[in-house]
Amino acid sequence: MKIDVISLFPSYLDPLNLSLLGKAQEQGIVEIVIHDLRDWATDQHRTVDDTPYGGGPGMVMSPVVWGEALDSIRNQAMVDPVLIIPTPSGQPFDQVLASSLAGEEHLVFACGRYEGIDSRVGMHYSQDQRWSSVREVSIGDYVLAGGEVASMVMIEAITRLIPGILGNPESVIDDSFSRLDSLVEGPVFTKPPTWRGLEVPEVLRSGNHGLVAQWRKDQAQARTETFRPDLLSDLPEPPH
Ligand code: ADE
Repeated sequence: MKIDVISLFPSYLDPLNLSLLGKAQEQGIVEIVIHDLRDWATDQHRTVDDTPYGGGPGMVMSPVVWGEALDSIRNQAMVDPVLIIPTPSGQPFDQVLASSLAGEEHLVFACGRYEGIDSRVGMHYSQDQRWSSVREVSIGDYVLAGGEVASMVMIEAITRLIPGILGNPESVIDDSFSRLDSLVEGPVFTKPPTWRGLEVPEVLRSGNHGLVAQWRKDQAQARTETFRPDLLSDLPEPPH
């Protein structure tokens, strides 16, 4: 998979070279290229923003500069890329969207700052046949200072689903939200069996796989009821 990220603060994205993704890049499973948006600004001050039409606080990022950046990345691409624009007003990012994006060959993340990117950028590239699709995506109901951290969240969630990136592919299947019954995961424990007076539940040490599976299911159900009742109400009605 090829991933381009365009940002005003390229070094903000340095963590993408660490850990699993660093290794995946060394192995050639993923190629990540970070671009500085200012490289496509043309005036002396390398301006990338302007005041908003209709008034209001802050600045809006220029469609002219973004257009130059995205055209240049598209012109060097081998396939029609997916354009992802992180924004708190976008479609919610979830495990289903992550899995679908994990099957793509080329993703381009456009990180906005200030009050965001001129909305014509998303409109224009949605109609451009040379892009596979445009997704405006939110990682949650809060406002970040820019799209960089949101892009990193999405890139981590997407790339760990690519075969060969995780050491143990089963850990993907077991994740909260990817499980068929879509419950969050229950608690996990390792050695020692007693730590600061707290015991690992007896059942996990019993060696009885059936009991362990049932216990994990019950714990997941209880945790989901406490923290994510919305997930339970989303479940389809059981057949009669
Ligand atoms: N940019 C600012 N806040 C964001 C959010 N919650 N999701 C995606 N991009 C953002």
